[in-house]
Amino acid sequence: MIYFDNSATTKIDPSALKSYDQVSQKIWGNPSSLHQFGEQAWHLLEQSRQQIASLCGVKPAEIIFTSGGSEGDNWVIKGTAIAKHEFGKHIITSSVEHGAVMNAMHQLEELGFEVTYLPVDSKGRVSPDDVARAIRPDTILVSIMAVNNEIGTIQPINEIGKVLEKYPKIHFMVDAVQAVGKQLDSMVFGPRVDFATFSGHKFHAPRGTGFVYARAGRKIAPLVNGGGQERGMRSGTENTPGDVAMARALRLVKDGEAAACQQERQIKQRIYDHIKDLPHVHVISGDGHDQGFAPHILTFAIAGVRGETIVHAFEEHDIYISTTSACSSKKHVEAGTLAAMKVPDEIATSAVRISLGDQNTLAEADEFNRVFDELYAGFKKIID
Ligand SMILES: Cc1ncc(COP(=O)(O)O)c(C=O)c1O
Repeated sequence: MIYFDNSATTKIDPSALKSYDQVSQKIWGNPSSLHQFGEQAWHLLEQSRQQIASLCGVKPAEIIFTSGGSEGDNWVIKGTAIAKHEFGKHIITSSVEHGAVMNAMHQLEELGFEVTYLPVDSKGRVSPDDVARAIRPDTILVSIMAVNNEIGTIQPINEIGKVLEKYPKIHFMVDAVQAVGKQLDSMVFGPRVDFATFSGHKFHAPRGTGFVYARAGRKIAPLVNGGGQERGMRSGTENTPGDVAMARALRLVKDGEAAACQQERQIKQRIYDHIKDLPHVHVISGDGHDQGFAPHILTFAIAGVRGETIVHAFEEHDIYISTTSACSSKKHVEAGTLAAMKVPDEIATSAVRISLGDQNTLAEADEFNRVFDELYAGFKKIID
């Protein structure tokens, strides 16, 4: 099997799974319980928080555990809206965000908030000047993703942060779900970023884990109320085994980060070189060297063949890729990013995404290219 769908999810790391299992079996007390058994669990949880904070170069108190990316995005957006609605009801985001951001914005619009959806250029990039122009006296939040999940564009977070330096009261949130392990920490935890959201299952941690980086001193309302866990910011009995496993998975990803990025860029380049000049093929993301794109995502279309057809054809050969976003691919929703980039419909509906991970190899790229040639010859008979 060749698994090229790492932006949808990743395989849990065996040692993270072992940690999960051990904590579940041995230290399963409730971290809030007063007895020693609870204390043990609490210590382990706090140790994991410290490890994650130190890997991210932030303070432990700035890490809040969640269930994943969607929860983090919803929390920061709605938590800001609840906390700051008296100061303003205007929010700025881009037109290429993940559904977790987009649909949270739509819900707020129904409640009377105004949202500006910034356009993107032909590479899916937001312009910092557009951010500057969109700011109003009643703007309370700017939410821009670090890495686009459909085509891999890296957004100019540092430049947007510079624009926002003049507006210290506006919250700046970065959806960093696709940025972990891609050598982008200096951007994601940049000096003007207030909140960043993360999802464990995108970096070999168990499902249902994640965290939010929340800069000290920045206040938002909790979304999940209850027993006051996570310093009152996110109630609910903590997922101690999941969070311990996530800390381990993050450490492993960080240990291998530079080598993995280099390898992913090489794999991407090898496939890019193989397909880029073929008739009907449109590569939508950059090549392996293009620093404006993350190393792990290569999106292309074979105009005239539907994306689903391409995905299933590769599946027949035990190769797993995706249409441009796993979340929307089963719902047959038009790809949001490609539409925002004004990619013509016949290309957008043919687009597929390869998303690489640290376990992929150049040999897999060669096998992909071999299968590609075989399938392409068949597709060409239909298109020509
Ligand atoms: C950019 C981005 N944000 C948020 C999410 C949602 O993350 P989760 O699956 O952990 O809810 C995803 C998942 O694909 C994503 O790619």
